Amino acid sequence: MKAIQDFLIKKNKQEKITMITCYDFSFAQIINQSHIDCLLVGDSVAQVFHGFPNTLHATIEMMAFHTAAVARGATHKFIVADMPFLSVRKGLKSAMQDIDLLMKAGAHAVKIENVLGHEKIIQHIIESGVPVMGHLGLTPQSIHQLGGPKIQGKSNDQAQKLFTQAKLLEQLGCFSLVLELIPNALATQLSKELVIPTIGIGAGPHTDGQVLVLNDLLGMNPDFNPKFLKKYLQGHSQFLEAFNQYSNEVKNNLFPLIENSY
Ligand code: KIV
Repeated sequence: MKAIQDFLIKKNKQEKITMITCYDFSFAQIINQSHIDCLLVGDSVAQVFHGFPNTLHATIEMMAFHTAAVARGATHKFIVADMPFLSVRKGLKSAMQDIDLLMKAGAHAVKIENVLGHEKIIQHIIESGVPVMGHLGLTPQSIHQLGGPKIQGKSNDQAQKLFTQAKLLEQLGCFSLVLELIPNALATQLSKELVIPTIGIGAGPHTDGQVLVLNDLLGMNPDFNPKFLKKYLQGHSQFLEAFNQYSNEVKNNLFPLIENSY
């Protein structure tokens, strides 16, 4: 997938869209050879790559730096970069400067959390030729207001508000919408009623696509086991085993051997 038009084509053909987060050149090179449709340089980089407790610590410099590394590795993939915490709330000029940095770093689109209060900025970004992916439901940049990583849209009132905001994002011209941690029934209904594709994480099987955080999918954190996550590798134990094997072999004079020498 190389263009926003491909997202809609896939939805209309009822072909699922696959997205995965990526933060560095090495993994971008591997994903570039995979069947994954789209890469997200998520602000989760602040947590999984830099060890911060939440995404509030992602800065525009961090996002541009990682976007550039991913763009150098994933030359054939569609790349979305997250607009970091408060970047669309500091006024139009500041938001556009940040967009400029992300697009010049190699992003093809940006993802923006929520909509209320920054509708005009989203509209201006899209009218400037920059595709925008929306993000509703659990929006981690509002974690302190939401009171933690809780399921969103459970009550009728919450669900209705989410619906209105999703429709608004579509009207503003977003090309797709991430739905995070919302009930299956709501995600299903939203995916049916919206023209644009929905991409779910913890939103059940009926969204038009799915996204997972790379490190979660690879099982890098044995203590992170939410119900929505499937680990496709036991990364933590497999990497640990490789590191220990290397260390043991060096300590027992099993590596390097003569055939590893010049
Ligand atoms: O930053 C991120 O990893 C995300 C995904 C959870 C969608 O926004």
